[in-house]
Amino acid sequence: MESMGLLRKTNMCGELTKKDIGKEVVLMGWVQKRRSLGGLIFADLRDITGLIQVVFDTEVNKEAFEKSESLRSEFVIAVRGKVCERESKNLEMATGEIEVYIDELKILDSAETPPIYIKDNDDVSEQMRLKYRFLDLRKPSMQKNLIMRSKTSKIFRDFLYDNGFNEVETPFLTKPSPEGARDYLVPSRVNPGKFYALPQSPQLFKQLLMVSGMNRYYQIVRCFRDEDLRANRQPEFTQVDIEMSFVDVEDVISINEKLIQKIFKEIKNIDIEIPIKRMSYQVAMDKYGSDKPDLRFGFELNNISDIFVNSGFNAFKSTIENGGVIKCIKIDSSSEEFSKKGISKLEKFAKTYGAKGLTWFKYENEVFESPISKFLSEKEINELITNLDIKEKDIVFIVADKESVVNTVLGALRIEIARSKNLIEKNKFELVWITDFPLFEYSEEEDRYVAKHHPFTAPIDEDIDKLESNPDEVRAKAYDIVINGDEIGGGSIRITNSNLQSRMFKAIGMTQEEANDKFGYLLEAFKYGVPPHGGIAYGLDRFMMLLTDSDNIRDVIAFPKTQSASCLMTNAPAIASSEQLKELGIDTIE
Ligand code: AMO
Repeated sequence: MESMGLLRKTNMCGELTKKDIGKEVVLMGWVQKRRSLGGLIFADLRDITGLIQVVFDTEVNKEAFEKSESLRSEFVIAVRGKVCERESKNLEMATGEIEVYIDELKILDSAETPPIYIKDNDDVSEQMRLKYRFLDLRKPSMQKNLIMRSKTSKIFRDFLYDNGFNEVETPFLTKPSPEGARDYLVPSRVNPGKFYALPQSPQLFKQLLMVSGMNRYYQIVRCFRDEDLRANRQPEFTQVDIEMSFVDVEDVISINEKLIQKIFKEIKNIDIEIPIKRMSYQVAMDKYGSDKPDLRFGFELNNISDIFVNSGFNAFKSTIENGGVIKCIKIDSSSEEFSKKGISKLEKFAKTYGAKGLTWFKYENEVFESPISKFLSEKEINELITNLDIKEKDIVFIVADKESVVNTVLGALRIEIARSKNLIEKNKFELVWITDFPLFEYSEEEDRYVAKHHPFTAPIDEDIDKLESNPDEVRAKAYDIVINGDEIGGGSIRITNSNLQSRMFKAIGMTQEEANDKFGYLLEAFKYGVPPHGGIAYGLDRFMMLLTDSDNIRDVIAFPKTQSASCLMTNAPAIASSEQLKELGIDTIE
């Protein structure tokens, strides 16, 4: 192939406009497509800024014209020519009013026919896209996502630096962090039989930096968690991790609101009102069945247990007797949209979230219609109608079960129904801080309390007395920022008092010995003067999904992993050679 010779790029393809008409330019990029039309050959030339039409004309330069006959898609070329007004304008193309007549062509590299089209919205499988990721990333939409991600990182950095935060890197080869997912382990060759854990977050290091007097820290950092993957989870993902000294909840929330506001303004030109709405965990669970409620639409959950305490309908009565609840969601003026078949589909949907069943009633022509109406008393029906303020053509879906099941099912159902009714607006952003999380949650599997956030999260002062007597009621100084139903970030104020820390360990069934073994270095550091501190970490990938309007986390990561944590391009993870394993002192099971 040719060298670029004397050609030096003067412009990017997508930045040329009518103002450049008459100028001589040198462009370099990939051939998107080529077509010949009589004595003319046209090619769309592409670089990261966009496309421009270039024209090879025997009358302008015969040699360039002849050479251009060999051009194929994805050849890399350099061209020199003059910007002209286009006769037949293509208004769908940003540069569609101009074209460049070429005087000199250099073919810098040829290309085989690519296995996927370099074109947005092509219905090629995601497997192929991931296998040929380097080609997939040539697509404008993917480049746009990566550029927006780069810009967002810069806004984070600028804001944090301007507000006195220093970027400090922390180790990847370390001991397990307290986030509670499974660790990725790395064997140590020089310490046979020993392993590093890749950090699930830099949590303890950032706290140590506060002990070190760094005052305000941040890091845009990769975190590693071996957990079940979903549409918004990757085994390695990026956090914008933040910690501050001498702060309480209000200080952390207030500076982060300004940061979030700046990101929305600069990336989306959207003004976010601050203070951002707040909602306690309890209210979120009661009203939305979720600690990450999507507030772009209504359909709040109503607790109707009281109506059925003495019900003749056994299923409801026994649910209440067994400590469960009966909750419902009302869909206004929509009964006609839900056919028997549609309802039975929703019931199947509810069952995938653990419901035993889904019942309903509608109110049409002043008639109460429901599969369970014959089991309900007139009083119950009247109370339903009054308490829920039922109007003509309303439909109500009811679930009776353990509270956690009811919340999960109805929480998912309200989203499903909003989706089916097209009520989820893409360009609307509903932000909410969820606060006052429970400090603990009960793990049925382990038959003990575990820390809901992590064991260094401080309890709310007025609940400290209940640590031993009533752990279920202890709330944490923890907060999540939830946007459009996704947890974009979360953090807390940390425990800095050793007596309180010991009580916390005890409450989750961890002996002082175990604590020393796991987190001894932090506890040791805490002996030597520790400032009150707290922080937050944003999931950058999730933030980018939101900003780029993607519903797949892989679309905002250059080289992501599949649902089964593998990389289809490199074929990682791969089998290690027996020499490598031997060197690491690892035996594999044959
Ligand atoms: P947490 O575990 O809540 O907090 O994580 C912070 C944010 O990281 C994002 N996130 C993920 N994104 C993609 N894939 C994953 N597997 C994944 N897991 C988490 C979420 C989440 O809100 N050390 C604490 C923070 C603190 O207390 O300061 C922590 O890691 O958006």
